[in-house]
Amino acid sequence: MNSMDGQEWYIQAFDEWYPIVYQHRDDKEAQYQVDFAISELNLKDNCRVLDLCCGYGRHIKYLNNKVFQVVGYDLSLYLLNKAKEFLSNKVFLVKGDVRNLPFPSECFDAVLNFFTSFGYFKEHKDNVQQIEQVSCVLKSGGRFLFDYFNPIQAKKIHDVKTEREFKTYIIKERRWYDKENKEIKKSICIYSKDRCFEKSYLESVKVYTFDELSEMFSRSQLQIKNVYGNYNKEKFTSDSPRLIIIGVKNE
Ligand SMILES: C[S@@+](CC[C@H](N)C(=O)[O-])C[C@H]1O[C@@H](n2cnc3c(N)ncnc32)[C@H](O)[C@@H]1O
Repeated sequence: MNSMDGQEWYIQAFDEWYPIVYQHRDDKEAQYQVDFAISELNLKDNCRVLDLCCGYGRHIKYLNNKVFQVVGYDLSLYLLNKAKEFLSNKVFLVKGDVRNLPFPSECFDAVLNFFTSFGYFKEHKDNVQQIEQVSCVLKSGGRFLFDYFNPIQAKKIHDVKTEREFKTYIIKERRWYDKENKEIKKSICIYSKDRCFEKSYLESVKVYTFDELSEMFSRSQLQIKNVYGNYNKEKFTSDSPRLIIIGVKNE
């Protein structure tokens, strides 16, 4: 366990504060990323797509009318309910854990995993299981978009502190690389503008190198088709902001 009250951090973190802390991860960004996914994964109007860790559905909103069906899957009931407020009934929203996908095998043409929704588990086998589950629900030849931070950059984060304001809140963050556990840690403290404390929690995400990820992919029958460093389709380098891997399930 990884928090003061014994709950895993990813159960605590994705509640009503998430859209405030990550307000810059907005609909406009999501639209750009969905356009990237459509062209890169060749998504057509007959495709069934899983948005794995869909959050409050900012990608689904735009993707929904471009493909045959979108299923959104997430552990946070709060974020799924928020998604339900503006998504059409055509979209299926399912609550559950990435380690156990409740879908038949080989039922999706594509799986999307946007914005570092991987590496949340302390145990390596659990993170591996997430990739295995993706492969299991993909049709053969199905495509996988995996969007992660750049692990080379993540390992260089020594101690970065930031403070910003959003609406009536002040958000203080501190990020560092925990070498011993190979995790990127981020402590987040939220105050109201009158300096009243609201909430604090710690994010903790495993840092896997590209080679380690490649091995997980290949062990799960996923071939790496392309690797990008951002959503402008620039190639991945040590300085890239992101590591975006496009995988294809073996035929
Ligand atoms: C960084 S957010 C990304 C959300 C969304 N993809 C986006 O870009 O807005 C990570 C998401 O993963 C979900 N999540 C965390 N742990 C999970 C788990 N074990 N199983 C399923 N979803 C999980 C969270 O609830 C959250 O919505």
